[in-house]
Formats: sequence, C-alpha cells, structure tokens
Amino acid sequence: MPRMAVTLAGVELPGPLVAAAGAAGNGPEILEVVPRGTFGAVTTKSITPEPRAGHPPWRLVELPTGMLNAVGLANPGLEQFMESVVPRLAQSDATFIGSIAGHSIEDYVEVAKAFDSVEHLPLVEANMSCPNTGTGRQFTDEPAAMRDAVQAIKSSLEQTPLFVKLPLETTSGYPLAQAAIDGGADGLTFLNTIPAMAIDVDTRRPRLANTSGGLSGPAIHHLAVRMIAGVRQTVTGGESLPIIGLGGVTRWEHAAEMILAGATGIGLATALYVDPRIARRVHRGLERWVRAQGVGSLSDLVGAVESDPIEPD
Ligand SMILES: Cc1cc2nc3c(=O)[nH]c(=O)nc-3n(C[C@H](O)[C@H](O)[C@H](O)COP(=O)(O)O)c2cc1C
Repeated sequence: MPRMAVTLAGVELPGPLVAAAGAAGNGPEILEVVPRGTFGAVTTKSITPEPRAGHPPWRLVELPTGMLNAVGLANPGLEQFMESVVPRLAQSDATFIGSIAGHSIEDYVEVAKAFDSVEHLPLVEANMSCPNTGTGRQFTDEPAAMRDAVQAIKSSLEQTPLFVKLPLETTSGYPLAQAAIDGGADGLTFLNTIPAMAIDVDTRRPRLANTSGGLSGPAIHHLAVRMIAGVRQTVTGGESLPIIGLGGVTRWEHAAEMILAGATGIGLATALYVDPRIARRVHRGLERWVRAQGVGSLSDLVGAVESDPIEPD
C-alpha cells in the first residue's frame, strides 16, 4: 500500500483530500456521510465575527458545467461557532482547518486569534477571495492590500500555520499569490469560485437573487491546474510552500493532475454537493495511481509533471 499521508506546513494529514470550505456544513457534518480516512482534513465554513444570514434565495444554480452560488458567507458567527461547533471538532479524530472571513482586517484578526487557541484547528485558512460579498474584492484588487492583510493575520497567530485562499489569477508573476507569501502565508489555497452570471431567458431575470455569483465545478478545473503549475514554477519556487489545489475535482484523475502540477492537498467542494461518496472514489483511485506510478509515497509525485516552463502570456 503506498503512503498517502502528506504534510501541510508541518501538519501531517493521513491523506491529501480536503473537504473545502462551504462544502462540509460547518465542518463536522460531512464526516457523518463519508467513511473515516477519506479526508486528510476538513475545512470549516468561513466564519465571520458576527452571524450572517447570507443572500436570499435563489443562492445555488446547477449548470451543465458546474455550479453557480451566491450563498454570501452565511455562517453562525464566531461566538456560536466556538460554543457549539468547536466541542464537536474535539469529538472527532479528523484534522480540521479553520476558515476565516470578514469585512475588514480587524474582523480577520479577531477570528484568527480565537481559532489560534483551538487545539482542534491545527491549520487556519483566510478566505481572502469570496466573490459573493460586497467587500469580497477588498484584498484582491490590489496586491499591497493583500500583503498588509495577510501580515496582520499572520502576526495575530502565535502557533497556527496560515493558508491564504486566493482567486483565479492569470497575470504572469501571480501578484496576489506573491503578496500573500510576502505577507507571511505558510501555504496557499486556490481556486475560490470565479465571478459569473446566469440568466433565465423566459423571465429575463438573473437566476441568482444576488444577480452575480461564483462559478465552481468542472468548468474551472483546468484553470486551476494551470495556476497551480504556474504558481509553483514562478512564485513558490518548487517545494517550499504547500498548495491546496481546488477546482472541479470529481474524479481521481483530476486530483492526480493537480498533484503533478504541484498541489500537496486537493480540495473538493462542488463534487460533495453532487454526491459525498465521490470523495471515497477519488481517494481509492489516487491510491491505485500512486502504486501504478511505482513510487512509495504520494508526496513523490507532487510537482512531478514533466513539462516545459509555462511561458508568460
Ligand atoms: C455553495 C458553496 C459555498 C462556498 N462557501 C465557501 C466559503 O464559505 N469559504 C470559502 O473559502 N470558499 C467557499 N466556497 C468555495 C469552495 O471552497 C471552492 O474554493 C470552490 O467551490 C472551487 O472548488 P470546486 O470546483 O471543487 O467546487 C464555496 C463554494 C460553494 C460551491
């Protein structure tokens, strides 16, 4: 049996698959429907200091190529999360990643400080790229704003490694990824959903109440593969900084592509809405693939794509 364990910023996970933020309820719920050992880690819903109801319905639209959502960061808020979700994390032997969101740097810092003291959140992830809130772009329009925010969050954490969740970048040099690293990120997570819109041609109305939403699922998979390979090549410099790759993973081959491109962890979101059992199939398929590749450990295949460098556009 090949070794499937991976290490993200010093934290060892039993396997590479990660239940992504927003796809696992508040976090522990997904473990009720997926066999033990499927996920190396489970990401909590992004938590803000105050509770958020999110956007009105419709907030999810199914598309032939994936999903469009404008949930709007609905979450129970920090106090409720600490009181009723954190005790449930402690009852599980899974590894959890605490996802942080907010409207200002102060919001992120407040949640980060609280998560830093939670033993069962050995990693945190700052969602700096939600396309579905009015302030979602405050850190993604300007790399300097990203760097300053990451720096503030990082310095509020005494012990917990920080992943920064980024949007799709196609600009050569990946300025937002670079800014997150300059701010002190211990790892990068991408892609978040991509701003998109669907229109009902009978009513002539947008299909989401929020008009615009975030596209996820198979439609974005190959954008993610290219960005993982590009960021690894030009920004993270090989193996030094771990990447959690996300975007349209529904089959083990998709996860394998991302590993070869340079991701150490592989997130699933939309696939879990379709059928949470997909995660088990992806995990098993990866195990068979690692064995067939003739290596002892999945980690040996991270970034192992044999390709020429990606030329800047
Ligand atoms: C319904 C829904 C809710 C989401 N909520 C969050 C969230 O709270 N925080 C976050 O960082 N990402 C959130 N995401 C983004 C996913 O974690 C992931 O980055 C994105 O969907 C791409 O992966 P996929 O193609 O596997 O879905 C959400 C995605 C969906 C579909």
